[in-house]
Amino acid sequence: MAKDKLFIFDTTLRDGEQSPGCSMNLKEKLDVASHLESLRVDCIEAGFAISSKGDFEAIKAIAAHVTYPAVCSLCRAVKGDIELAAQSVSAAKRPRIHTFIATSPIHMEHKLKMSPDKVLERAVDAVTYAKTFVEDVEFSCEDAGRSNPEFLARVYAAVIKAGATVINVPDTVGYMMPVEFGELINYLGNHVVGIENAIISVHCHDDLGVATANSLAGVLNGARQVECTVNGIGERAGNTALEEVVMSLAVRSDYYNVATDIETTEISKTSRLVSHITGSVIQPNKAIVGANAFAHEAGIHQDGVLKQKSTYEIMNPEMVGLTENKLVLGKHSGRHAFLDRLKELGYQLSCDELQQAFERFKAIADKKKDVLDDDLHALISDEIYQHDDHYKLDYFEVNTTNESRPKATVRLMIDQKVLTGSSEGAGSVDAIYKTIDQMVGETIDLKEYTLQSITGGTDALGEVVVRIRDQGQIFVGRSSSTDVLNSSAKAYIVAINKMLNARGIQRIKPAL
Ligand code: KIV
Ligand code: ZN
Repeated sequence: MAKDKLFIFDTTLRDGEQSPGCSMNLKEKLDVASHLESLRVDCIEAGFAISSKGDFEAIKAIAAHVTYPAVCSLCRAVKGDIELAAQSVSAAKRPRIHTFIATSPIHMEHKLKMSPDKVLERAVDAVTYAKTFVEDVEFSCEDAGRSNPEFLARVYAAVIKAGATVINVPDTVGYMMPVEFGELINYLGNHVVGIENAIISVHCHDDLGVATANSLAGVLNGARQVECTVNGIGERAGNTALEEVVMSLAVRSDYYNVATDIETTEISKTSRLVSHITGSVIQPNKAIVGANAFAHEAGIHQDGVLKQKSTYEIMNPEMVGLTENKLVLGKHSGRHAFLDRLKELGYQLSCDELQQAFERFKAIADKKKDVLDDDLHALISDEIYQHDDHYKLDYFEVNTTNESRPKATVRLMIDQKVLTGSSEGAGSVDAIYKTIDQMVGETIDLKEYTLQSITGGTDALGEVVVRIRDQGQIFVGRSSSTDVLNSSAKAYIVAINKMLNARGIQRIKPAL
């Protein structure tokens, strides 16, 4: 029997981007959107137009850039929000407006301070108004998971009557359990008047670790759209992970009567890109996209897999686009081979970017014999996505012995001038960071510093991710180099530059 289509609504660029430290610049968002298009998601929620000028511009740019997926902006059930959302998606081939209002007693009483009847009226007005701009209008009852099901049925029926094409059921705080959530979707399917005129969508958060299970329970009970993010990034514990839902449906197609149009071989690439751009490292045992997801360590498993893969493998790595971590290039490789490999890995670079990346590749190949795919991912993330628009590292040295305190000397480019500073620290990285703090004129609030090796061997690229905090916001810097002190210094500067972008200033103190 033909399967129903399950629509994949990706909110990596909205709910995902909203999570601490995951903010992206315009170029990064466009690249993620291109990857989502190659993945063939049905709808990209590109942002929340009213939330910032940056979000508005990014939605506009994405709407003009992609052609396959629908492009959507989130908006509250407020006139001004809806107007801005409509403007932001107007260039899209298939524009959608996604409007929402909270319906749980706790939100209506304490947050909105509105009666249920007033909330219902606002929901209908919002959908009616959104319909004057676009045909495709999605409506969400925020905190549906803790709302009264009869009230939900009334609200959804009223918005469908007003023209909503998709009704979304968010478990905003990740409170529900799979059977219970499935029952809620089933109830709505049976009690919402006019439900045959709309698609039921589910949107689950992972606070109790059951977002994917809840979404799949929704699907079993009639939902035909799942809202999710790549790598499950999102508010607090995150959202339903796109790769988990898609691969569950692909691997267990015997069990589900729905199928997605997702190009599963694009999953790995997209996952890596999102991880590199956001600096949110994927836990090694993460389903589908974790580094160990396809690794067989135990002897008994290795033995079984060698005899017959299916003994311990329910899907093969190629299904998600994982190829061997190939030895791709060396120092004699030319620009052509380099460009070809980048294309295969899913990167589209402009001429200038290619030149920049190629120079960096040559520098790495001089120091490191084998340049692997993972090195290339790190290189691109470093060269193309990082911000060195304010402060730029020109040079550093650290003098250290096992008996003395390390002393760093750092040269930074500030305002076209090269300035030098020097400081001691508890360790080499500490000395470099103290020197940079002194030079920029502020003690930066460093929240996290992690270092990991990209590939094996002592000549491997060492990747540093730092998180700094400023005015409640987290900024992530990431850099890789064969020298970990170099990547440490650069990652710190990248994070500081992002912080300055957010503050809207060029310098903390002017260069003297
Ligand atoms: O989690 C949530 O309730 C949301 C809605 C705005 C859809 O993200
Ligand atoms: Zn959400």
